[in-house]
Amino acid sequence: MVGDHITTAERQPALATTAAGGAPGPGGVLLTGATGFIGMQLLARYLERTNRRVYTLVRGADNREVQARMQQTLARLYGSDHPYSDLVVALRGDITEPGLGLGRIGDSLSERVCDIVHGAASVSFSLGLPASRRINVVGTREVLAFADRCQMRGDLRRMSYVSTAFVSGEHGGCFSEDDLDVDQRFRNPYEASKFEAERMVGRSRSHLPVTILRPSIVVGETGSGFTTSFNVLYWPLRALARGAYQALPARSDGVVDVVPVDYVADAIFALTAAREAEGATFNLTAGRSASSVGEILELACNFFGRSAPRLIEPQLYRHVLHPLLLRSSRSDRQRRALKSSEVFFPYFATKGTFDDRRARVALRGTGIAPAPLHTYFDRLVEFALRAEWGRQSPVRAEVCRGPARTPRRQSRTTVRRVAGVQPAPTLVPAV
Ligand SMILES: NC(=O)c1ccc[n+]([C@@H]2O[C@H](COP(=O)([O-])OP(=O)(O)OC[C@H]3O[C@@H](n4cnc5c(N)ncnc54)[C@H](OP(=O)(O)O)[C@@H]3O)[C@@H](O)[C@H]2O)c1
Repeated sequence: MVGDHITTAERQPALATTAAGGAPGPGGVLLTGATGFIGMQLLARYLERTNRRVYTLVRGADNREVQARMQQTLARLYGSDHPYSDLVVALRGDITEPGLGLGRIGDSLSERVCDIVHGAASVSFSLGLPASRRINVVGTREVLAFADRCQMRGDLRRMSYVSTAFVSGEHGGCFSEDDLDVDQRFRNPYEASKFEAERMVGRSRSHLPVTILRPSIVVGETGSGFTTSFNVLYWPLRALARGAYQALPARSDGVVDVVPVDYVADAIFALTAAREAEGATFNLTAGRSASSVGEILELACNFFGRSAPRLIEPQLYRHVLHPLLLRSSRSDRQRRALKSSEVFFPYFATKGTFDDRRARVALRGTGIAPAPLHTYFDRLVEFALRAEWGRQSPVRAEVCRGPARTPRRQSRTTVRRVAGVQPAPTLVPAV
């Protein structure tokens, strides 16, 4: 019920009207991060597969903006014509604020929520540690405090926390679902803050029915390539499409563990409901089927009809070439591109792997499993080109219906036109 039922987060009697008004199924679900990449897919699953009331915590200056943002999210999923508005209650809030910024609504909400799925986070690799901690650690603490309230006042069945497999940091070996603190160092404040948050969530197992879900690098949907996020893997793909690299700081045998968002959302949806998942942690990763840098480069070069860039030892790049390139870059734009590229490079020089045995066993028989990247790689890139790497916002439902797809292989000219620039062969990533 976007818009009609909750007037402002401060005027909370509206919540009672809402919950009593429609015909919700058993127990409400609170989603944080529903306007984001993974949260939006989770929202879609609750809407399409249950008749439960879904409460979403959405940031916004006022209630009008919150409702508009929720409408935009639904429109991105379904276009303008869909039957789901009546199941969603968008609430203005912020995980970093006491009581999630819900004000008086918090008490009545806590009586109605049976499942919490906490996916809200800052996923920026370049945000500083204090700011990352504020959202990822302080925010998670507030969500846990709200879960306590739900448990005291209502009937909390599960508190699911979306962590990341990269709480493993730079750990070089196999990282299991029981591992957390292995004396690892972290590549960035995102990993460090998610580690701290997961440790805190783990401790709350003593009194809360917690499940921890750890996806690795999440990319678009297996069937359509649909995504709203063009981060880690997309970044070098886009640069390759533009012919921006003659060389890359990466190791051919570097492990790149990628999973499609439909697997991640299906798994979170299923495990949140599974009794045996209570108290457990799951690596939602490709595990033994993870790709290598070499494999991804081959897939990408085949797709774009390009020859593979040379791979440079990452240490050599970081300590010698990168500073040189920064010093000699001719414009601020080029320097910014270099700077923003550097946060992704460590993910293409890793040796660490993930053991996802518990997730595979728990999901056995459900048909929920991550497809190997090579089986849907082309669809990811086709969608990225169609979305112009995030500049356009195709509607998921339309993409899934599958209007004319771009051909598997495109001429270099077509790829360059869609990618939006003429190639500029250089070591400097011109993104
Ligand atoms: N994407 C991946 O590859 C990946 C991999 C492993 C794990 N994860 C985890 O999956 C979760 C979702 O990631 P994502 O990729 O979907 O991120 P995303 O697209 O950036 O979405 C983040 C969501 O969190 C919300 N949010 C951020 N700060 C908030 C605050 N202070 N109060 C309330 N909401 C706030 C955002 O709201 P706004 O719309 O207002 O910004 C947005 O809805 C995160 O916990 C992340 O660590 C992601």
